[in-house]
Order: sequence, then structure tokens, then C-alpha cells
Amino acid sequence: MSVFVPSDYFRELRRDEIFPDPSRPMEIDLGCGEGTFTAAMAPQFPERDFLAVERILCRVESTSKKINRTGVENAKVMRLESAYVVGWLLPPACVSRLHLLCPDPWPKKRHERNRLINNVEFLTGLERILIPGGEFLLKTDHPEYFENAIESLSQRSGFERIDWPEDAFFYPQTDFEKHWLRRGLSINRARWRKREA
Ligand SMILES: C[S@@+](CC[C@H](N)C(=O)[O-])C[C@H]1O[C@@H](n2cnc3c(N)ncnc32)[C@H](O)[C@@H]1O
Repeated sequence: MSVFVPSDYFRELRRDEIFPDPSRPMEIDLGCGEGTFTAAMAPQFPERDFLAVERILCRVESTSKKINRTGVENAKVMRLESAYVVGWLLPPACVSRLHLLCPDPWPKKRHERNRLINNVEFLTGLERILIPGGEFLLKTDHPEYFENAIESLSQRSGFERIDWPEDAFFYPQTDFEKHWLRRGLSINRARWRKREA
């Protein structure tokens, strides 16, 4: 079953409620869209678990279908709001990598506070749910969002920015990334590591 529905939305989950073996690394694809990234990552890394999060129902359904077609058991999709998942639902130190790929940019000045990267609940939760040494990976087509993210993360002493050379590791392009590249836009990427205590 590739759709994950929490048994209780109002308490912190246990890691083994999501995937049965809590000793395996778990990665989050936040705002997964139609799930292309997760559906490509899961078969490539059978030793890891992948949880995709998306709030739009038809995109959740597309993601679920894609996962089912791959036949893997290490990927699931959950329909919920990103900041709540990161800020409240996931337990501490359960995530090895969190991917935020082409997030909604909220381009208008008066909407900037809606950006996930400016959401204190999200930022505090990100630090809480990552394991020490865990990573936050961001790609965006929106230069101002990118600058905003660099500034926002630089103010949090729990994170250090690390290199992300092209082709450093298997990292499939997302649907939105392909779309923007086809239109001649460039994609910025950045990677941070949660400092060891
Ligand atoms: C621009 S799309 C990118 C989708 C995918 N990551 C990609 O790169 O192809 C952003 C996605 O994030 C979802 N999203 C935006 N804000 C969200 C939130 N607060 N909670 C859950 N999903 C969200 C949107 O519904 C949309 O599918």
C-alpha cells in the first residue's frame, strides 16, 4: 500500500508506523508533485525508505500510481501540509535527507512570509527531525527564493552549507525542474548538513 495515512494526526508518529524497520535511513520528498523523484529514487536505493508529502489529492494519486508501478515497498506518499509534517508529526532524529524540490516560490513581496523557507515551524522542525549529519537539499528555479533560503539557513547555527557538485550522486530531475529547464530557466541548488551535536 503506497499511500500512508496516519492513524492519529494529532500526536507525533513513531518511525515504525511509517516503515517497519526504524534502523533504515528515511528520506522525505516534501511537496512531491506527481512523485517522479520519489518513484525514481526508491528502486535505485532499496536500502533506504522514502516518504513523499503532498497536499493536492490528484498529485498524491499520481504519486501513488507511480510508486505502485515500480513495485517497490520502500516508498509511500502522505497527503498533508508540509510544515505540519515537519514541525509536528514526524518524530525527532528520524530523517537522513529532506528534499525540497522546486517549492512554490510565492513571488510577490507581500506573500514572502508564506514561503516554507521562512516558516519558523518548518525550520525548527527540520533541525529536530534530521539525524545529526542529516541533510537538507533544495533546488529552485526562483533566484529570490534561493537567496532567501541561503539567508534563512545561514541564521541557524545548527546547519552548515556543504558542496553539491554536479553529478555528485544519483539525483533525478523533477517534473518542474525539467519544465523550467526546457523554458531556458536555470535551477539553483544548495545542500546543508545538520551539525553533529
Ligand atoms: C512547484 S511544485 C513542485 C513539485 C515537485 N517537487 C517537482 O519539482 O516537480 C510544488 C508542489 O508542492 C506542493 N505544496 C506546496 N505547498 C505545500 C504544502 N504546504 N504542503 C504540501 N504540499 C505543498 C504543491 O501542491 C505542488 O505539488
